Amino acid sequence: MGNQEELKESTTHDREDSFSGRHSSDNLLQSLREDWDELARIDPLWAILSRADKKYMAWEIDEFMSTGSIEADKIMKEVGALGKPELSHTALDFGCGVGRVTRRLAHYFDQVVGIDISPEMIRIAKELNGELTNISFEINIRNDLSIFPDDSFDLVYSSRVLQHLPNVDIVKHYISEFIRIVNNKGIVCFQLPARISWVRRYFSKRQIYKPLRQLGFAGSTLYKIAGLHPMELITVPENEVVLTVNLAGGNIIKTVSDEKEIYFYKEGYIYYVIKS
Ligand SMILES: C[S@@+](CC[C@H](N)C(=O)[O-])C[C@H]1O[C@@H](n2cnc3c(N)ncnc32)[C@H](O)[C@@H]1O
Repeated sequence: MGNQEELKESTTHDREDSFSGRHSSDNLLQSLREDWDELARIDPLWAILSRADKKYMAWEIDEFMSTGSIEADKIMKEVGALGKPELSHTALDFGCGVGRVTRRLAHYFDQVVGIDISPEMIRIAKELNGELTNISFEINIRNDLSIFPDDSFDLVYSSRVLQHLPNVDIVKHYISEFIRIVNNKGIVCFQLPARISWVRRYFSKRQIYKPLRQLGFAGSTLYKIAGLHPMELITVPENEVVLTVNLAGGNIIKTVSDEKEIYFYKEGYIYYVIKS
């Protein structure tokens, strides 16, 4: 993937879907793709794990990748304790970035797929993980996961992705898709903030970044000089997540408070979901 023709194919333009406002949703996703491509060119590792001390290309690649191993091992321990997944053939890492967690999931599953909206993130993921033969990385610039049939995966995983989407409807749509593509012996595990401080809600760096970008300032300049970036941060309250999961035919079997993100938002969870 990667050339213009293939990119065009993977967008929502050529398909009908039930999502209302399809064209505005297409525009939002194209804009999201541009934002993440820009971040991937400027400082990809910090865009993924935005620790203050790692800003401006300060992540060492080995240390960065080791955080993914720790995260994947922890998740696999949690799902193992829940007796899931019963099979270990296939896993999906939705919004995989450069494959930080995907890479370690390949240790547990026969085949792992990482998908991301940003072609540039996928390019880096392929470069960093080229030696692993049971991983594939794909670009998906769609508001759904229709590239995968129902019941495709034993594990569907997503972390630090849903909060960066343009609106709550798109978040809920992807959650429904996670449940559709997991099989009934498998498990979905996703992380999502429930509440942010009002300061974060009303004053974001994105609000300054976007108009300046439109005025013609380069993204790299805005980042280097003022630390500005285009990342969104949205939340979905826990009760709305429960409703979304239930409506999609899922059942939340465990919810864990996502404490490691405490500095970025007030309340967040990791949800463990099976098909009901
Ligand atoms: C903060 S990074 C997290 C990456 C990875 N999950 C990790 O924890 O290492 C967010 C990633 O989500 C991707 N992303 C954002 N919106 C997406 C969408 N609608 N579909 C797929 N990927 C998306 C971005 O391109 C970016 O790589």
